Amino acid sequence: MTDKSQGMEDGRASTATGTESLTVTDNRTGKNYDIEINDGTVRAMDFRGIKVDEEDFGLMTYDPGYSNTASCRSAVTYIDGEKGILEHRGIPIEQLCEQSTYLEVAYLLIYGHLPTEDEYNQWVYEITHHTYVHENIKNFMNGFRHDANPMGMLLASVGALSTFYPEASDIRDEQQRHISAVRLIAKMPTLAAFAYRHSLGLPYVYPDNDLSYTGNFLSMLFKMAEPKYEPDPRLEKALDILFILHADHEQNCSAAAVRVVGSSLTDPFTAIAAGVAGLYGPLHGGANVAVLRMLNRIGSTDNIVDFLEGVKQGDERLMGFGHRVYKNYDPRARIIRHHVDEVLEATNKESPLLDIAVELEKRALDDDYFTSRKLYPNVDFYSGLIYEAMGIPTDAFTVMFAIPRTSGWMAQWMEMLHDEELKIARPRQIYTGPRDVDYVPIDER
Ligand code: ACO
Repeated sequence: MTDKSQGMEDGRASTATGTESLTVTDNRTGKNYDIEINDGTVRAMDFRGIKVDEEDFGLMTYDPGYSNTASCRSAVTYIDGEKGILEHRGIPIEQLCEQSTYLEVAYLLIYGHLPTEDEYNQWVYEITHHTYVHENIKNFMNGFRHDANPMGMLLASVGALSTFYPEASDIRDEQQRHISAVRLIAKMPTLAAFAYRHSLGLPYVYPDNDLSYTGNFLSMLFKMAEPKYEPDPRLEKALDILFILHADHEQNCSAAAVRVVGSSLTDPFTAIAAGVAGLYGPLHGGANVAVLRMLNRIGSTDNIVDFLEGVKQGDERLMGFGHRVYKNYDPRARIIRHHVDEVLEATNKESPLLDIAVELEKRALDDDYFTSRKLYPNVDFYSGLIYEAMGIPTDAFTVMFAIPRTSGWMAQWMEMLHDEELKIARPRQIYTGPRDVDYVPIDER
């Protein structure tokens, strides 16, 4: 930043030349400053030199919810929210859903390129052979109440994994980072399935290495007395596509949580547990649960008009609609919509809730309240219906999101560690409380 009236502000300041700069006039002092623009961005620290006098701390930027703050540089995922575009490492999500597999997408996200055949086989082999968890994890899971929310169980058990792999804290070692990624991606379905079986009081099912990633997960969820579980290939495929769709979504709440916690250089299991915690909330990964509850509450297509009126009055939200970034149809919602009927066919189920969802979407998209605010269905609007048809209880929906998002979190975490500008995340605040207050002894209050 250049203080035009006083020359360069200090040694840290950069010279803003040419047209890629912003000229700011501080009306408090009448001084002008040139601030460099790079990649359509100004650096918040460049404002610190703008002061009324030497005592002044300097100007800060205020951005609740980080709506307009880039917190990092990233080459993992590209989103154009206005156009409804989502790409991983430059490849459109539609192509990945049509031609790839979840494990290949996980590799792509983490290592930045599509694997060769050998790399892919090795990756799948490693993940398949790290699905088992230490027996003590089972004891740990047994300690939860019978009605414990599976997401709470997943959160605790992912964090607990760090105590089973203390060597993972050597985060500067490439091999440790790799094996932690493999372990996390491999064990997440096992932990999720154990949490689900615990809630039903059913014995845990150990991983079956003959099955695919999603086939094995279905087996761990649903296998009963049969000697070998044979997953329906249509469900295996639909789940794989759902996993691709949920793998990463750049700097959302949970990815930001992973980066913030990871910036203290903690081990990856702990950083990923922070991601699980972020995903737990109803405005993020918990939204598909909220959608199902909402559809159940609406109960019939006859009640949609009244329900939408309540939303417009501000009494409630239309869950599964709206997105911080997408101001157009979420491309993931479009792909999921195609698979709902397929899954219903495979499971031989009828879904009265699907009729309500379809009518609700139609009416909302015909309504100026929603279109003028650019509120369109997001990924969660239809995903819950698929999970419900598969027999997954509503409480476990968010867990279904956490499993595939683990690869995105690991990609974000690994990228962060290579960032030359990495600093511990430590935001500023505008202090609004009292100052210089004297302590009052308890008997005088
Ligand atoms: N229903 C009704 N009105 C809504 C909705 C909604 N779902 N979403 C936003 N609005 C309205 C707001 O009331 C606001 O209206 P106003 O300008 O009259 O005050 C306007 O649209 C802008 O909304 P914001 O809350 O400022 O948007 P923001 O970007 O902060 O929120 C969010 C995004 C949290 C996703 C929001 O749209 C929402 O709550 N949606 C429902 C929950 C949901 O589906 N979450 C899943 C997101 S996808 C994911 O996490 C995987």
